[in-house]
Amino acid sequence: MSSKKTFIVLEGVEGSGKSTQSLLLSERLTLEGKSNLLVREPGSTNTGEKIRNLILQGTELNPLSELFLFSAARSELIQNEILPALNANSVVVCDRYIYSSIAYQGHAKGLDLNVISEINSITTSQLHPDLVFLLDIEPEISFKRKKSDPKDRFEKESMEFHNQVRKGYLSLAKSNPEVWNIIDGQKSSEEIREIIWQKVSESIR
Ligand code: TYD
Repeated sequence: MSSKKTFIVLEGVEGSGKSTQSLLLSERLTLEGKSNLLVREPGSTNTGEKIRNLILQGTELNPLSELFLFSAARSELIQNEILPALNANSVVVCDRYIYSSIAYQGHAKGLDLNVISEINSITTSQLHPDLVFLLDIEPEISFKRKKSDPKDRFEKESMEFHNQVRKGYLSLAKSNPEVWNIIDGQKSSEEIREIIWQKVSESIR
């Protein structure tokens, strides 16, 4: 396989299956002899994991503070993990990225999308993924299959909130179909894995 740099992002509402699919993709890349790095947001660095606990388990935060904290974790991840891996020609698989900030802090919590866009561009220095997979599913369905208890801050939000997140993702996906792939999250895990692999293998060929 070639040494083209490839940055892949998976997005979706809670319980959409993106963490499972991120792992399956990373395993498949390894199996095919392609070096890769699997990371998640927020987290995957020492500071990022601390920020993750602060956001998900800590006291109430306003949406702007949330945006800054997610962005700080993202900056740590990009500088310390993602860029070095891409520079070493590894494929990077990232479970959530800037689109989570747009969907959650923007579409669902009402923060100005221009503010988010500004902060995102500062945080990422315009590092954009080559491929984004949206595992699209109605939150009413995805929540039924999510067993995690106790719930984190976002899992406790209303169905209305999660429906706004989903709508946010769909509008992002539709505005950039070159990069985004919408996958029906109700398909079986095997089917989704194959759809993703087909696209990824074309892209890294
Ligand atoms: P996580 O447990 O990783 O969610 P999931 O298991 O569904 O991947 O928790 C991350 C939570 O943080 C999730 O509810 C989405 C939210 N989030 C934001 O609100 N904004 C962001 O920028 C990011 C990266 C995550």
